[in-house]
Amino acid sequence: DAPETVTPTGAPTGAPKTANSQQGAFLTTAQGVRLYDTDHSLKAGERGPTLLQDHHLREKIMHFDHERIPERVVHARGAGAHGVFVGYGTAENICKAGFLKEGVSTPVFVRFSTVVGSRGSADTVRDTRGFATKFYTDEGTFDLVGNNIPVFFIQDGIKFPDIIHAVKPHPDREIPQAQSAHDTFWDFVSQHTEATHHMMWHVSDRGVPRSYRTMEGFGVHTFRLVNEAGETSLVKFHWKPKLGVHSLLWEEAQMISGFDPDFHRRDLYDAIESGAFPQWEFGVQVFPDTPDQTFEGIDLLDSTKIVPEELAPVQPIGMLTLNRNPTNFFAESEQVAFHTGHLVPGIDVTDDPLLHARLFSYLDTQLTRLGGPNFGQIPINRPHAPVNDMLRDGFHQHAVHGGVAPYKPNSLDGGCPFFAGSKDLAYVEVPQRVAEATKVRKAPESFADHFTQPRQFFHSLSPLEQEHVIRAITFELGKCYEQAIKERQLLVLAKVDTRLAAEVATGLGLPAPEAEALPEVVPSPALSQLGQEWPIDG
Ligand code: HEM
Repeated sequence: DAPETVTPTGAPTGAPKTANSQQGAFLTTAQGVRLYDTDHSLKAGERGPTLLQDHHLREKIMHFDHERIPERVVHARGAGAHGVFVGYGTAENICKAGFLKEGVSTPVFVRFSTVVGSRGSADTVRDTRGFATKFYTDEGTFDLVGNNIPVFFIQDGIKFPDIIHAVKPHPDREIPQAQSAHDTFWDFVSQHTEATHHMMWHVSDRGVPRSYRTMEGFGVHTFRLVNEAGETSLVKFHWKPKLGVHSLLWEEAQMISGFDPDFHRRDLYDAIESGAFPQWEFGVQVFPDTPDQTFEGIDLLDSTKIVPEELAPVQPIGMLTLNRNPTNFFAESEQVAFHTGHLVPGIDVTDDPLLHARLFSYLDTQLTRLGGPNFGQIPINRPHAPVNDMLRDGFHQHAVHGGVAPYKPNSLDGGCPFFAGSKDLAYVEVPQRVAEATKVRKAPESFADHFTQPRQFFHSLSPLEQEHVIRAITFELGKCYEQAIKERQLLVLAKVDTRLAAEVATGLGLPAPEAEALPEVVPSPALSQLGQEWPIDG
């Protein structure tokens, strides 16, 4: 059973909130030399030229000049908080990860973000939101780098630069700053129809959350879990906010962008400061690990598809509570480095081609963003499990490694610390059979249906929510300069729903697309057997 309340734990990183920015009675240089003045440059006379020999001036200005680091290439705007995750133990029979065991309490750091805008952009723009969680478990760090929308624009990570180039501001005029209401975005999604499902969620009320505290989170991809007996299951991860899911009206979102561009950041900070700790229940949809990795005709390796909760209910496995604000935004929220490859024993990846590109991308980008290969040593990124690696040197190395033999095998430093049975506790990839296959650059047939689920999503909305979608697309497409893009997107919308397309067309002052001009819709997979459950215990 889920515990009623979760007790906050202590701080994993960072100085206590009450600490002053300066400690000690004297100001010093970075070398600890006591200063008598930090307000005046050293000059040849009170009104004379500044002297090159002023090493304090040079140190102070040099450091200031390098205070900024590159912002994230995506998800640049965000805010984070510390908290605790408590496992319910309900997942123990499908996953051996220690942090999911009953009552185990694990420190976490969560960062919420928008995708498109730069660091200084407004919080309430229409966008997908990031929901990234770092679990500092006893068995090493596990990162779940998810979003508030359960599907993604693309099926293969090789398309990520394309979608991001399309959604970011136009290269010539740097417009718009932080949203998708422009030609290049609609140019891309109107031609790359696998984006339709994500696009529909994006233009729904999910694209303008009321608060980070009222967003769902999704791991998006299917992951493979393994239990103590070595049995595997496929799962999708979900975060369900205890406060429920709430959105802004588009008009509210626009006004708030002006009144308080920090609306979401402030809301999260103030809630935590006042003791109203936000909570999310962690849950899984569980599917049998069949050789074809499909469920009810849905390809589980396709990140543009959900599995409806009517077919596989979300089963609660733990509770997240955010209970402490960062001490220093830069040190924690800005320097935190999430990575889909940070996995712990019991959790493995599947062959989702979107996930595989991500497994490469995060470390690669952080190498530049955080200045070299040692960003794992930054306090917010340090595992809470003991680290004993053979990685050495590099920019910003903080460790002073002893010994002479960071290699294996060695006979000089007492050998390497491997012991019999280490496989029981170590991270071991599930020995998944890799099909005999020919190299191809090709999507499988099972990825081909781009419209069934967007249509189901639209039809699942209430009339008011559908109206919001129609007005949102009308607004967004109305910002495009190119008539041809609007017309092409209307054709795509007609494949989702002809009334949707007709109403957007009316809003844009364009004729509704002719039904016979529409290409054939790809047949939908059978979504039968509503209500069938795959309980964790069976
Ligand atoms: C950053 C989620 C797909 C590359 C992020 C962040 C989130 C996220 C939440 C922000 C992390 C933070 O707060 O620091 C997702 C989801 C995806 C997805 C849910 C699809 C299911 C991709 C793909 C790529 C990619 C396909 C590249 C192939 C990046 C990069 C960053 C990032 C480079 C910046 C990381 C940093 O600077 O630390 N993503 N992403 N993402 N993502 Fe993704």
